[in-house]
Amino acid sequence: METHFFILGRYPSLSLAEIIAVLDLKKLPYSLDFRSVEAAVFSVGSEFNLKEFCADLGGTVKSGRLIDKVLYSDPEDRFQNLFSSTFLKDSGFIAGKGKIKFAISLYDLNSDPLLLKRLEKRLTGFHATLKDNLQAQNLKVGFIKIKHRFTSSVSLVKNGVLKNGFEMSLLAGKEQIIAGRTLWVQDYESFTRRDFFKPAKDKRSGIMPVKLARMMLNLAGKERNSTIMDPFSGSGTIILEAYEMGFFKILGSDISIKAVSDTKQNLAWLTGSKIENKVGLLVTDVVQLSTKIPPQSVDAVVTEPFLGKPLHKVPDVFTVRQIFADLKPLYIAAFKNFNAVLKKDGRIVFIFPAFQVKGSLMLFDIEPFSNNFRLLSSRSTFLYRSKDQFLIREIAVFARK
Ligand SMILES: C[S@@+](CC[C@H](N)C(=O)[O-])C[C@H]1O[C@@H](n2cnc3c(N)ncnc32)[C@H](O)[C@@H]1O
Repeated sequence: METHFFILGRYPSLSLAEIIAVLDLKKLPYSLDFRSVEAAVFSVGSEFNLKEFCADLGGTVKSGRLIDKVLYSDPEDRFQNLFSSTFLKDSGFIAGKGKIKFAISLYDLNSDPLLLKRLEKRLTGFHATLKDNLQAQNLKVGFIKIKHRFTSSVSLVKNGVLKNGFEMSLLAGKEQIIAGRTLWVQDYESFTRRDFFKPAKDKRSGIMPVKLARMMLNLAGKERNSTIMDPFSGSGTIILEAYEMGFFKILGSDISIKAVSDTKQNLAWLTGSKIENKVGLLVTDVVQLSTKIPPQSVDAVVTEPFLGKPLHKVPDVFTVRQIFADLKPLYIAAFKNFNAVLKKDGRIVFIFPAFQVKGSLMLFDIEPFSNNFRLLSSRSTFLYRSKDQFLIREIAVFARK
């Protein structure tokens, strides 16, 4: 088994669950060795291609391979050795010719906060030591100056660090520091393009982040030849993402003619063609879904339903109760229809609205769905809070009972 580190995005629990869902789907043997809000360390069986694996993920921003571990109880030279030219050469950090650009990032893997601060203060010194050691070998070297503890993926790509140099990622744990080599960073340009440059958008219904759509699709844990459905497709974020990931039996529907037409326009933009036979789209109220789709024909429903009208101020307890009460009949009818169209081992990845009111979290009551479905995700673990919204999205994964 080889050990790999994954730097998690803004929603670490969701990102971690996504990695586990994809490992399970690919039937890869693994152990989760360490985890924190910033990173996870997995040992994975030998048939594992890290870059290919990570290319499917929405919630991981960086990843790489573990090179060495140094215990805090080890002598200081053992730690300094990480920056020596011999160690760097032997560990494959230095390859190719020309000027080497390098970066060092420091991540917290549940270390003592004071120790992390101390290490952070020493980061500039580590850069200088590493540069001096390589220059002493007549190598041309430069490093990326960092403002915080870590270098962003954008900076690594823009400075060509992964092509013409290396990044050493240091992960500070409870008892040891793990040194790894960054091998992959998220293709942020591709996500940004789909987030911001889709031609048809409906700001009123809310724009779902593309990375969230991808994480939800991965949480469904279904093979690429499965039938995936979004019955509240809006302008098609989930539909487009499923297509981008390689699903080819995709169904989308929405009560709004405009929404379905937006999805079509966005698909044409993504695929470059007007007719796309991998995607079926229809206009329907979710309440009628089971009369339009054959029974037990869908492997996974992955959806962001109607979550209530846009809010202009922080809601109070009574407003939240009213929002939940108004949405309840729609969700109950939706789940009844999902029960009819889903295959026996079908999954639902659904977003419920949640709110933080005066310090307490108000979650939607999911009891009414428990006759036919069981929750696979633990409640309130997958909360997705966008900066500019009062509404919190609770991502829930269900399997049929
Ligand atoms: C939050 S939006 C979904 C946005 C979508 N995830 C996207 O990225 O564009 C909810 C969608 O549900 C649709 N909707 C509302 N009530 C519906 C119903 N009863 N049946 C089907 N769709 C409905 C709305 O037209 C809207 O497009």
